[in-house]
Amino acid sequence: MYNSIVAIFTISLLLISVQAACPSGPPSVDTTSGGFEYTYPYPIHYHELQTQHQTLCQAYMDVPPHGPTNSSKTIMMLHGKNFCGVTWNATIEVMRSQGYRVIVPDQIGFCKSDKPTAYQFSLQQLALNTKSILDSLDIKSLVVMGHSMGGMLSTRFTLMYPNTVERLILVDPIGLEDWKAKGVPYLSIDNIYLQERASNYTSIRTYEQSTYYAGTWSPAYDVWVNMLVHVYNGSMADQYAFDQALITDAVITQPIAYEFPLLANKTTLLIVGQKDNTAIGKQWSPPNVQAILGDYRVLGYQVAGAIGANCTLVEYPDLGHAPQISAPDRFHKTVLDWLGE
Ligand SMILES: *[C@@H]1O[C@H](CO)[C@@H](O)[C@H](O)[C@H]1NC(C)=O
Ligand SMILES: *[C@@H]1O[C@H](CO)[C@@H](O)[C@H](O)[C@H]1NC(C)=O
Ligand SMILES: *[C@@H]1O[C@H](CO)[C@@H](O)[C@H](O)[C@H]1NC(C)=O
Ligand SMILES: *[C@@H]1O[C@H](CO)[C@@H](O)[C@H](O)[C@H]1NC(C)=O
Ligand SMILES: *[C@@H]1O[C@H](CO)[C@@H](O)[C@H](O)[C@H]1NC(C)=O
Ligand SMILES: *[C@@H]1O[C@H](CO)[C@@H](O)[C@H](O)[C@H]1NC(C)=O
Repeated sequence: MYNSIVAIFTISLLLISVQAACPSGPPSVDTTSGGFEYTYPYPIHYHELQTQHQTLCQAYMDVPPHGPTNSSKTIMMLHGKNFCGVTWNATIEVMRSQGYRVIVPDQIGFCKSDKPTAYQFSLQQLALNTKSILDSLDIKSLVVMGHSMGGMLSTRFTLMYPNTVERLILVDPIGLEDWKAKGVPYLSIDNIYLQERASNYTSIRTYEQSTYYAGTWSPAYDVWVNMLVHVYNGSMADQYAFDQALITDAVITQPIAYEFPLLANKTTLLIVGQKDNTAIGKQWSPPNVQAILGDYRVLGYQVAGAIGANCTLVEYPDLGHAPQISAPDRFHKTVLDWLGE
């Protein structure tokens, strides 16, 4: 009797401590956090967030520059949905070689970060979480680069913290149009969750091939499909699918498309693969709506015009949604030329 009470007491304490604290100690090579069995090439740091009545751990990488470490140049890279911080790996190395310290978070609900069972996801909340990582590192200003949903988030981040963002780089960002205003019907979170839960290698690859890589496939892309399979099939598979559904709902219901003129004073690089056709909700839209969504040949031009003369538009006629993966050398040259490196 006494033993079992002690045991219950001990187990409760363990549960409480597991919930309350992020992994502590020096950043280390992580293999399983966030229910994601995948090893990143750099140590993982954890930032503890007190947010929405819970304690959550947000994972991030903080990679020093090659060479002198007193450089004041810092860049943050924000991943998209269907991506993780680690998908920036090649770009991280390029920027380190140019003397940059590189900060790469995994957003809450993604990859190596916590996957809450309930959370009011918004781009504003993710921007706030991300800003608190920078505050904890005492980083006052930096270059921000975001891809896909990370581009949409970088835009929101810049609108909220204009003085933190020295320069903004958007790589095939989503949110250049308001999908619901163009006719995408509302799909319930429960329905999106079912679709997310059914994801497997084949469904992910089929989607990425048609959307990200202009119908082509290279064996080098497989690693990023398998990476996602590890999250969709990891120990937090169910929470991941639900969080992804909540995030999809947030992205659809919270457009940024009308706010680009507010970036007029920000030196911005907009990179667009003209064969990109990503549009959230396209999969469940009727054909006449599908036909008008995600036309990046027009969207890049429109949004660059909306931002104004401080925006540089670079378009790749032959590339899709992920130029940093499908043509890394060209992509890195574009970024470094623009940064004046
Ligand atoms: C700091 O930076 C300066 C100029 O960039 C360089 O000359 C110096 O060697 C650096 N010092 C260290 C300790 O890295
Ligand atoms: C990035 O990661 C992929 C997949 O692990 C790997 O094939 C590639 O060589 C890495 N690139 C760099 C520059 O480390
Ligand atoms: C993968 O998912 C697709 C679509 O969700 C489904 O049709 C297919 O049967 C699944 N394949 C496997 C091997 O589970
Ligand atoms: C992972 O995949 C296997 C084989 O398809 C399946 O049996 C298992 O239920 C999946 N695990 C999770 C957590 O989804
Ligand atoms: C740009 O900066 C000018 C001068 O500080 C200011 O008057 C203007 O409102 C700013 N525009 C935007 C869109 O923030
Ligand atoms: C570009 O940004 C600067 C501030 O960084 C601002 O003074 C200038 O008015 C902007 N140009 C346009 C065309 O908005």
